Amino acid sequence: MTILIKNGEVIGPDGPVKQDILIEDDHVSAVGRDLSAPDAEIVDAAGKLVFPGFIDTHTHLDMNTATMHTADDFHSGSAAAVCGGTTTVLDFATQEHGESLMQALQNWRVLADGKSCCDYGFHMAITEWTPRVADELTRMKQEGVTSYKLYMAYDNLRVADDIIYEVLKAVKAVGGIVGMHCENGDLVKVLTRELLGRGVTGPEGHPLSRPDVVEAEAIFRYLCIAELADAPVNIVHLSTARGMEIVENARSRGQEVYVETCPQYLLLTDENYGKPDFEGARYVLSPPLRKEADKEALWQAIEHDEIETIGSDHCSFFLRQKEFGRNNFSQIPNGAPGVDLRPALIYTYGVDAGRISLAHMYRLLCENPARLFGMFPRKGTLREGSDADIVIWDPDWQGTITDENQHTAADNTPYAGLRIQGRAARVYLRGREVVRDGEITKENQGRYVHRGACDFWLK
Ligand code: URP
Ligand code: ZN
Ligand code: ZN
Repeated sequence: MTILIKNGEVIGPDGPVKQDILIEDDHVSAVGRDLSAPDAEIVDAAGKLVFPGFIDTHTHLDMNTATMHTADDFHSGSAAAVCGGTTTVLDFATQEHGESLMQALQNWRVLADGKSCCDYGFHMAITEWTPRVADELTRMKQEGVTSYKLYMAYDNLRVADDIIYEVLKAVKAVGGIVGMHCENGDLVKVLTRELLGRGVTGPEGHPLSRPDVVEAEAIFRYLCIAELADAPVNIVHLSTARGMEIVENARSRGQEVYVETCPQYLLLTDENYGKPDFEGARYVLSPPLRKEADKEALWQAIEHDEIETIGSDHCSFFLRQKEFGRNNFSQIPNGAPGVDLRPALIYTYGVDAGRISLAHMYRLLCENPARLFGMFPRKGTLREGSDADIVIWDPDWQGTITDENQHTAADNTPYAGLRIQGRAARVYLRGREVVRDGEITKENQGRYVHRGACDFWLK
Protein backbone atom coordinates (compact mmCIF):
# COMPACT_ATOMS: atom_id res chain seq x y z
CA MET A 1 0.00 0.00 0.00
CA THR A 2 1.48 3.36 -1.04
CA ILE A 3 0.06 6.64 0.23
CA LEU A 4 1.28 10.12 -0.61
CA ILE A 5 0.28 12.87 1.80
CA LYS A 6 0.64 16.13 -0.10
CA ASN A 7 0.67 19.86 0.71
CA GLY A 8 0.60 19.60 4.51
CA GLU A 9 2.69 21.54 7.01
CA VAL A 10 4.87 18.82 8.50
CA ILE A 11 5.75 19.50 12.14
CA GLY A 12 9.24 18.69 13.36
CA PRO A 13 11.95 20.19 15.58
CA ASP A 14 12.26 23.26 13.33
CA GLY A 15 8.53 23.97 13.25
CA PRO A 16 6.18 23.59 10.29
CA VAL A 17 7.69 22.88 6.86
CA LYS A 18 5.57 22.41 3.73
CA GLN A 19 6.48 18.88 2.68
CA ASP A 20 5.00 15.72 1.23
CA ILE A 21 5.25 12.35 2.93
CA LEU A 22 5.40 9.06 1.08
CA ILE A 23 4.24 5.99 2.98
CA GLU A 24 5.14 2.54 1.74
CA ASP A 25 3.58 -0.34 3.64
CA ASP A 26 4.14 0.41 7.32
CA HIS A 27 6.87 3.05 7.15
CA VAL A 28 7.75 6.49 5.85
CA SER A 29 9.82 6.04 2.69
CA ALA A 30 10.38 9.70 1.77
CA VAL A 31 9.81 13.22 3.08
CA GLY A 32 10.36 16.19 0.76
CA ARG A 33 9.01 18.80 -1.62
CA ASP A 34 6.91 17.85 -4.64
CA LEU A 35 7.15 14.08 -4.20
CA SER A 36 5.38 11.93 -6.76
CA ALA A 37 4.44 8.28 -6.80
CA PRO A 38 2.27 7.22 -9.77
CA ASP A 39 0.46 4.37 -8.02
CA ALA A 40 0.00 6.03 -4.66
CA GLU A 41 -3.29 6.99 -3.05
CA ILE A 42 -3.07 10.78 -2.78
CA VAL A 43 -4.20 12.44 0.44
CA ASP A 44 -4.45 16.22 0.20
CA ALA A 45 -3.40 17.80 3.50
CA ALA A 46 -3.55 21.42 2.32
CA GLY A 47 -4.41 23.68 5.24
CA LYS A 48 -3.62 20.90 7.72
CA LEU A 49 -0.74 20.17 10.07
CA VAL A 50 1.01 16.82 9.83
CA PHE A 51 2.43 15.48 13.09
CA PRO A 52 4.12 12.19 13.93
CA GLY A 53 1.60 10.11 15.90
CA PHE A 54 1.44 11.44 19.45
CA ILE A 55 2.88 9.34 22.26
CA ASP A 56 1.26 9.15 25.70
CA THR A 57 3.68 7.58 28.16
CA HIS A 58 1.26 7.56 31.10
CA THR A 59 -1.98 5.56 30.88
CA HIS A 60 -3.72 3.10 33.19
CA LEU A 61 -5.92 0.87 31.03
CA ASP A 62 -7.61 -2.25 32.35
CA MET A 63 -6.27 -1.53 35.81
CA ASN A 64 -7.48 -2.94 39.10
CA THR A 65 -7.19 -0.76 42.18
CA ALA A 66 -7.79 -2.29 45.62
CA THR A 67 -11.56 -1.97 45.10
CA MET A 68 -12.29 -1.03 41.49
CA HIS A 69 -11.59 -1.81 37.86
CA THR A 70 -11.03 1.07 35.45
CA ALA A 71 -13.85 1.99 33.07
CA ASP A 72 -11.53 1.62 30.07
CA ASP A 73 -9.93 -1.63 29.09
CA PHE A 74 -7.21 -1.80 26.46
CA HIS A 75 -9.69 -1.82 23.64
CA SER A 76 -11.80 1.19 24.61
CA GLY A 77 -8.89 3.19 26.02
CA SER A 78 -6.70 2.67 22.98
CA ALA A 79 -9.62 3.43 20.64
CA ALA A 80 -10.02 6.73 22.47
CA ALA A 81 -6.27 7.32 22.19
CA VAL A 82 -6.14 7.00 18.39
CA CYS A 83 -9.28 9.08 17.94
CA GLY A 84 -7.37 11.92 19.59
CA GLY A 85 -4.22 11.31 17.53
CA THR A 86 -2.23 9.23 20.00
CA THR A 87 -0.75 6.25 18.20
CA THR A 88 1.41 4.84 21.00
CA VAL A 89 0.71 4.52 24.70
CA LEU A 90 3.01 3.29 27.45
CA ASP A 91 0.90 1.75 30.19
CA PHE A 92 2.04 0.27 33.51
CA ALA A 93 2.51 -3.45 34.04
CA THR A 94 2.34 -3.78 37.80
CA GLN A 95 4.07 -6.53 39.77
CA GLU A 96 1.77 -8.07 42.36
CA HIS A 97 3.47 -9.04 45.60
CA GLY A 98 5.12 -12.44 45.21
CA GLU A 99 5.10 -12.19 41.43
CA SER A 100 8.05 -12.08 39.02
CA LEU A 101 8.42 -9.16 36.60
CA MET A 102 8.10 -11.61 33.72
CA GLN A 103 4.76 -12.82 35.07
CA ALA A 104 3.57 -9.23 35.47
CA LEU A 105 4.57 -8.43 31.89
CA GLN A 106 2.78 -11.51 30.61
CA ASN A 107 -0.37 -10.58 32.55
CA TRP A 108 -0.44 -7.14 30.96
CA ARG A 109 0.42 -8.41 27.49
CA VAL A 110 -2.66 -10.65 27.69
CA LEU A 111 -4.81 -7.60 28.44
CA ALA A 112 -3.53 -5.71 25.41
CA ASP A 113 -2.42 -8.18 22.72
CA GLY A 114 -4.91 -8.33 19.86
CA LYS A 115 -7.25 -5.81 21.50
CA SER A 116 -5.40 -2.54 21.22
CA CYS A 117 -6.22 0.08 18.60
CA CYS A 118 -2.87 1.85 19.05
CA ASP A 119 0.66 0.59 19.56
CA TYR A 120 1.58 0.01 23.17
CA GLY A 121 4.38 -0.80 25.55
CA PHE A 122 4.78 -1.04 29.30
CA HIS A 123 6.71 0.59 32.08
CA MET A 124 7.23 -2.01 34.80
CA ALA A 125 5.93 -0.97 38.25
CA ILE A 126 8.08 -2.76 40.84
CA THR A 127 6.37 -3.29 44.18
CA GLU A 128 8.67 -5.93 45.67
CA TRP A 129 12.46 -6.05 45.28
CA THR A 130 14.33 -9.31 45.83
CA PRO A 131 17.61 -10.69 44.34
CA ARG A 132 15.47 -12.74 41.95
CA VAL A 133 13.62 -9.63 40.79
CA ALA A 134 16.93 -7.76 40.39
CA ASP A 135 18.15 -10.55 38.11
CA GLU A 136 15.13 -10.03 35.87
CA LEU A 137 16.12 -6.55 34.67
CA THR A 138 18.26 -7.97 31.87
CA ARG A 139 15.40 -10.18 30.77
CA MET A 140 13.07 -7.17 30.87
CA LYS A 141 15.41 -5.34 28.51
CA GLN A 142 15.33 -8.32 26.14
CA GLU A 143 11.53 -8.13 26.31
CA GLY A 144 11.59 -4.44 25.35
CA VAL A 145 10.92 -2.94 28.78
CA THR A 146 13.46 -0.27 29.73
CA SER A 147 11.50 2.02 32.05
CA TYR A 148 10.14 1.45 35.53
CA LYS A 149 7.77 3.09 37.98
CA LEU A 150 7.99 3.16 41.75
CA TYR A 151 5.46 4.58 44.19
CA MET A 152 6.09 6.52 47.41
CA ALA A 153 2.36 6.41 48.25
CA TYR A 154 -0.42 3.76 48.22
CA ASP A 155 0.20 0.98 50.78
CA ASN A 156 -0.14 -1.88 48.29
CA LEU A 157 2.33 -0.33 45.84
CA ARG A 158 4.90 1.77 47.67
CA VAL A 159 8.48 0.82 48.41
CA ALA A 160 10.91 2.04 51.08
CA ASP A 161 13.85 4.40 50.50
CA ASP A 162 16.51 1.65 50.55
CA ILE A 163 14.63 -0.16 47.79
CA ILE A 164 14.38 3.05 45.76
CA TYR A 165 18.16 3.40 46.04
CA GLU A 166 18.80 -0.19 44.95
CA VAL A 167 16.33 -0.07 42.07
CA LEU A 168 17.82 3.19 40.79
CA LYS A 169 21.30 1.67 40.69
CA ALA A 170 20.15 -1.55 39.06
CA VAL A 171 18.00 0.19 36.42
CA LYS A 172 20.85 2.59 35.60
CA ALA A 173 23.11 -0.42 34.98
CA VAL A 174 20.75 -1.65 32.22
CA GLY A 175 20.38 1.77 30.58
CA GLY A 176 16.85 2.34 31.84
CA ILE A 177 15.03 4.99 33.85
CA VAL A 178 12.77 4.99 36.91
CA GLY A 179 9.70 7.24 37.04
CA MET A 180 8.48 8.04 40.52
CA HIS A 181 5.03 8.71 41.96
CA CYS A 182 6.15 11.40 44.41
CA GLU A 183 3.77 11.68 47.37
CA ASN A 184 4.65 10.87 50.97
CA GLY A 185 2.24 8.00 51.74
CA ASP A 186 2.62 8.24 55.54
CA LEU A 187 1.70 11.92 55.52
CA VAL A 188 -1.31 11.26 53.27
CA LYS A 189 -2.52 8.65 55.76
CA VAL A 190 -2.19 10.82 58.87
CA LEU A 191 -3.73 13.86 57.20
CA THR A 192 -6.62 11.72 55.95
CA ARG A 193 -7.25 10.39 59.49
CA GLU A 194 -7.22 13.94 60.88
CA LEU A 195 -9.64 15.23 58.23
CA LEU A 196 -12.09 12.36 58.64
CA GLY A 197 -11.85 12.77 62.42
CA ARG A 198 -12.89 16.41 62.01
CA GLY A 199 -15.87 15.34 59.89
CA VAL A 200 -14.41 16.38 56.52
CA THR A 201 -15.72 13.51 54.39
CA GLY A 202 -16.49 15.07 50.97
CA PRO A 203 -14.23 15.49 47.91
CA GLU A 204 -12.92 18.77 49.36
CA GLY A 205 -10.92 16.57 51.77
CA HIS A 206 -8.91 15.06 48.91
CA PRO A 207 -6.55 18.00 48.18
CA LEU A 208 -6.28 18.76 51.92
CA SER A 209 -5.01 15.23 52.54
CA ARG A 210 -2.35 15.60 49.81
CA PRO A 211 -1.14 19.24 49.99
CA ASP A 212 1.77 20.48 47.89
CA VAL A 213 4.30 19.83 50.66
CA VAL A 214 3.43 16.11 50.51
CA GLU A 215 4.61 16.11 46.89
CA ALA A 216 7.54 18.45 47.53
CA GLU A 217 8.93 16.31 50.36
CA ALA A 218 8.72 13.19 48.22
CA ILE A 219 10.40 14.86 45.24
CA PHE A 220 13.19 16.17 47.47
CA ARG A 221 13.71 12.74 49.04
CA TYR A 222 13.63 11.02 45.65
CA LEU A 223 16.22 13.40 44.24
CA CYS A 224 18.46 12.96 47.30
CA ILE A 225 18.32 9.19 46.83
CA ALA A 226 19.00 9.63 43.11
CA GLU A 227 22.03 11.78 43.92
CA LEU A 228 23.41 9.00 46.12
CA ALA A 229 22.67 6.40 43.46
CA ASP A 230 24.10 8.69 40.76
CA ALA A 231 21.17 7.84 38.49
CA PRO A 232 19.10 9.87 36.01
CA VAL A 233 15.46 9.97 37.08
CA ASN A 234 12.00 10.78 35.83
CA ILE A 235 9.27 12.37 37.94
CA VAL A 236 5.79 11.51 36.74
CA HIS A 237 2.71 13.72 37.08
CA LEU A 238 4.53 16.63 38.74
CA SER A 239 1.82 19.03 39.90
CA THR A 240 3.27 21.83 42.05
CA ALA A 241 5.39 24.96 41.87
CA ARG A 242 7.28 23.73 44.94
CA GLY A 243 8.07 20.43 43.27
CA MET A 244 9.35 22.25 40.19
CA GLU A 245 11.60 24.46 42.35
CA ILE A 246 13.17 21.38 43.95
CA VAL A 247 13.81 19.90 40.51
CA GLU A 248 15.48 23.11 39.37
CA ASN A 249 17.73 23.13 42.46
CA ALA A 250 18.79 19.55 41.82
CA ARG A 251 19.46 20.31 38.16
CA SER A 252 21.59 23.30 39.09
CA ARG A 253 23.73 20.91 41.15
CA GLY A 254 24.19 18.74 38.06
CA GLN A 255 21.52 16.09 38.55
CA GLU A 256 19.77 14.65 35.51
CA VAL A 257 16.04 14.96 36.16
CA TYR A 258 13.28 14.48 33.59
CA VAL A 259 9.82 15.80 34.40
CA GLU A 260 6.37 14.85 33.22
CA THR A 261 3.28 16.90 33.97
CA CYS A 262 -0.31 16.34 32.82
CA PRO A 263 -3.01 18.53 31.22
CA GLN A 264 -5.12 18.46 34.40
CA TYR A 265 -2.40 20.33 36.31
CA LEU A 266 -2.10 22.88 33.49
CA LEU A 267 -5.80 23.55 33.04
CA LEU A 268 -7.78 22.81 36.22
CA THR A 269 -7.56 23.93 39.85
CA ASP A 270 -8.57 22.62 43.27
CA GLU A 271 -11.61 24.93 43.30
CA ASN A 272 -13.40 22.09 41.53
CA TYR A 273 -13.42 19.98 44.70
CA GLY A 274 -15.90 22.38 46.29
CA LYS A 275 -18.60 21.81 43.65
CA PRO A 276 -21.99 20.82 45.12
CA ASP A 277 -23.70 17.40 44.94
CA PHE A 278 -20.53 15.30 45.02
CA GLU A 279 -19.52 16.80 41.63
CA GLY A 280 -16.04 17.28 43.06
CA ALA A 281 -15.56 13.48 42.99
CA ARG A 282 -14.83 13.47 39.27
CA TYR A 283 -11.69 15.53 40.00
CA VAL A 284 -10.35 13.09 42.61
CA LEU A 285 -7.05 12.05 41.08
CA SER A 286 -3.59 11.92 42.59
CA PRO A 287 -1.68 14.12 42.99
CA PRO A 288 -4.73 16.39 43.32
CA LEU A 289 -5.50 19.51 41.31
CA ARG A 290 -3.63 22.53 42.67
CA LYS A 291 -3.81 26.31 42.91
CA GLU A 292 -3.80 28.85 40.09
CA ALA A 293 -0.18 29.75 41.02
CA ASP A 294 0.92 26.12 40.55
CA LYS A 295 -0.80 25.99 37.18
CA GLU A 296 0.99 29.14 36.10
CA ALA A 297 4.36 27.88 37.40
CA LEU A 298 3.96 24.69 35.36
CA TRP A 299 3.16 26.62 32.19
CA GLN A 300 6.21 28.76 32.78
CA ALA A 301 8.32 25.66 33.34
CA ILE A 302 7.07 24.35 30.00
CA GLU A 303 7.79 27.66 28.28
CA HIS A 304 11.35 27.56 29.69
CA ASP A 305 11.82 23.98 28.48
CA GLU A 306 12.05 22.62 32.02
CA ILE A 307 9.37 19.95 31.51
CA GLU A 308 10.13 17.23 28.98
CA THR A 309 6.88 15.28 28.59
CA ILE A 310 3.13 15.64 29.10
CA GLY A 311 1.25 12.41 29.81
CA SER A 312 -2.49 12.09 30.34
CA ASP A 313 -2.40 9.81 33.43
CA HIS A 314 -5.59 8.43 31.91
CA CYS A 315 -7.24 6.37 34.65
CA SER A 316 -10.99 6.39 34.08
CA PHE A 317 -13.82 5.48 36.41
CA PHE A 318 -17.59 5.69 36.00
CA LEU A 319 -19.45 8.19 38.17
CA ARG A 320 -21.18 5.27 39.90
CA GLN A 321 -17.73 3.99 40.93
CA LYS A 322 -16.86 7.40 42.35
CA GLU A 323 -20.01 7.00 44.54
CA PHE A 324 -18.10 4.38 46.53
CA GLY A 325 -16.52 7.27 48.41
CA ARG A 326 -19.70 9.32 48.88
CA ASN A 327 -19.22 9.33 52.67
CA ASN A 328 -15.43 9.13 52.77
CA PHE A 329 -13.27 10.96 50.21
CA SER A 330 -10.39 8.54 50.73
CA GLN A 331 -12.56 5.75 49.24
CA ILE A 332 -13.23 7.63 45.98
CA PRO A 333 -11.26 5.82 43.24
CA ASN A 334 -8.38 8.04 42.14
CA GLY A 335 -8.17 8.93 38.50
CA ALA A 336 -9.81 10.58 35.50
CA PRO A 337 -9.88 10.04 31.73
CA GLY A 338 -7.93 12.16 29.26
CA VAL A 339 -6.04 9.96 26.77
CA ASP A 340 -8.17 11.18 23.86
CA LEU A 341 -8.17 14.87 24.78
CA ARG A 342 -4.51 15.46 25.65
CA PRO A 343 -3.28 16.52 22.16
CA ALA A 344 -6.25 18.85 21.58
CA LEU A 345 -5.90 20.38 25.05
CA ILE A 346 -2.20 21.08 24.51
CA TYR A 347 -2.86 22.41 21.01
CA THR A 348 -5.71 24.68 22.21
CA TYR A 349 -4.26 26.01 25.46
CA GLY A 350 -0.59 25.78 24.49
CA VAL A 351 -0.16 26.43 20.76
CA ASP A 352 -3.36 28.27 19.85
CA ALA A 353 -3.14 30.34 23.03
CA GLY A 354 0.37 31.42 21.98
CA ARG A 355 2.17 29.83 24.94
CA ILE A 356 4.19 27.25 23.00
CA SER A 357 5.20 26.76 19.39
CA LEU A 358 4.21 23.86 17.16
CA ALA A 359 7.82 22.63 17.39
CA HIS A 360 7.53 22.65 21.17
CA MET A 361 4.28 20.67 21.07
CA TYR A 362 6.08 18.21 18.79
CA ARG A 363 8.92 17.83 21.32
CA LEU A 364 6.57 17.36 24.29
CA LEU A 365 4.20 14.90 22.65
CA CYS A 366 6.38 13.16 20.06
CA GLU A 367 10.16 13.40 20.11
CA ASN A 368 10.88 13.64 23.85
CA PRO A 369 8.74 10.67 24.95
CA ALA A 370 10.09 8.60 22.05
CA ARG A 371 13.70 9.38 22.98
CA LEU A 372 13.39 9.07 26.73
CA PHE A 373 11.63 5.73 26.48
CA GLY A 374 13.72 4.08 23.77
CA MET A 375 11.48 4.37 20.71
CA PHE A 376 13.26 7.04 18.66
CA PRO A 377 13.50 7.43 15.63
CA ARG A 378 11.10 4.58 14.91
CA LYS A 379 8.41 6.60 16.69
CA GLY A 380 8.15 10.32 17.50
CA THR A 381 9.43 11.69 14.19
CA LEU A 382 8.63 11.61 10.49
CA ARG A 383 11.79 10.67 8.67
CA GLU A 384 12.72 8.00 6.17
CA GLY A 385 12.39 4.62 7.86
CA SER A 386 10.16 5.75 10.75
CA ASP A 387 6.92 3.94 11.43
CA ALA A 388 4.21 5.67 9.40
CA ASP A 389 2.31 6.80 12.52
CA ILE A 390 0.87 10.06 11.25
CA VAL A 391 -1.74 12.57 12.40
CA ILE A 392 -3.31 14.95 9.93
CA TRP A 393 -4.39 17.73 12.26
CA ASP A 394 -7.21 20.10 11.36
CA PRO A 395 -6.31 23.34 13.14
CA ASP A 396 -9.64 24.99 12.26
CA TRP A 397 -11.96 22.47 13.87
CA GLN A 398 -13.73 23.80 16.98
CA GLY A 399 -15.76 22.09 19.65
CA THR A 400 -16.63 21.97 23.32
CA ILE A 401 -15.91 18.98 25.51
CA THR A 402 -18.90 17.28 27.12
CA ASP A 403 -19.26 14.09 29.16
CA GLU A 404 -20.95 12.53 26.13
CA ASN A 405 -18.70 13.48 23.21
CA GLN A 406 -15.40 12.11 24.51
CA HIS A 407 -14.23 8.77 23.16
CA THR A 408 -13.46 6.77 26.29
CA ALA A 409 -15.85 4.31 27.94
CA ALA A 410 -16.14 6.63 30.94
CA ASP A 411 -19.27 8.72 31.48
CA ASN A 412 -17.44 11.77 32.78
CA THR A 413 -14.49 14.00 32.04
CA PRO A 414 -12.88 16.65 34.23
CA TYR A 415 -12.52 18.77 31.09
CA ALA A 416 -16.29 19.06 30.42
CA GLY A 417 -17.14 22.59 29.29
CA LEU A 418 -13.69 23.41 27.91
CA ARG A 419 -13.46 24.72 24.37
CA ILE A 420 -11.28 22.83 21.90
CA GLN A 421 -9.51 24.20 18.84
CA GLY A 422 -8.26 21.59 16.38
CA ARG A 423 -8.50 17.81 16.17
CA ALA A 424 -7.04 14.75 14.54
CA ALA A 425 -8.84 14.59 11.20
CA ARG A 426 -7.04 11.47 9.99
CA VAL A 427 -4.72 9.10 11.81
CA TYR A 428 -2.43 6.46 10.31
CA LEU A 429 -0.94 3.67 12.38
CA ARG A 430 2.05 2.07 10.66
CA GLY A 431 0.67 3.17 7.30
CA ARG A 432 -2.92 2.08 7.84
CA GLU A 433 -5.71 4.62 8.25
CA VAL A 434 -7.33 4.02 11.65
CA VAL A 435 -9.24 7.29 12.18
CA ARG A 436 -11.12 9.57 9.83
CA ASP A 437 -13.03 12.73 10.84
CA GLY A 438 -12.36 11.97 14.48
CA GLU A 439 -13.92 8.48 14.38
CA ILE A 440 -12.23 5.10 14.32
CA THR A 441 -12.21 3.31 10.96
CA LYS A 442 -10.12 0.23 11.73
CA GLU A 443 -9.91 -1.40 15.15
CA ASN A 444 -7.40 -3.62 16.95
CA GLN A 445 -4.41 -2.73 14.75
CA GLY A 446 -2.10 -1.99 17.70
CA ARG A 447 1.10 -3.94 18.29
CA TYR A 448 3.49 -4.29 21.18
CA VAL A 449 6.44 -1.87 20.94
CA HIS A 450 9.72 -3.53 21.81
CA ARG A 451 11.71 -0.59 23.21
CA GLY A 452 15.46 -0.04 23.33
CA ALA A 453 17.71 1.78 25.76
CA CYS A 454 16.65 5.23 26.92
CA ASP A 455 18.23 8.19 25.19
CA PHE A 456 19.18 10.78 27.82
CA TRP A 457 19.88 14.29 26.58
CA LEU A 458 19.81 16.59 29.60
CA LYS A 459 23.45 15.99 30.53
O1 URP B 1 -5.18 9.31 40.34
C1 URP B 1 -4.41 8.74 39.60
N1 URP B 1 -3.51 9.40 38.93
N2 URP B 1 -4.49 7.41 39.44
C2 URP B 1 -3.59 6.66 38.70
C3 URP B 1 -2.45 6.12 39.51
C4 URP B 1 -1.25 7.02 39.54
O2 URP B 1 -0.72 7.24 40.58
O3 URP B 1 -0.76 7.49 38.50
ZN1 ZN C 1 1.27 7.88 39.97
ZN1 ZN D 1 -0.65 7.38 36.78
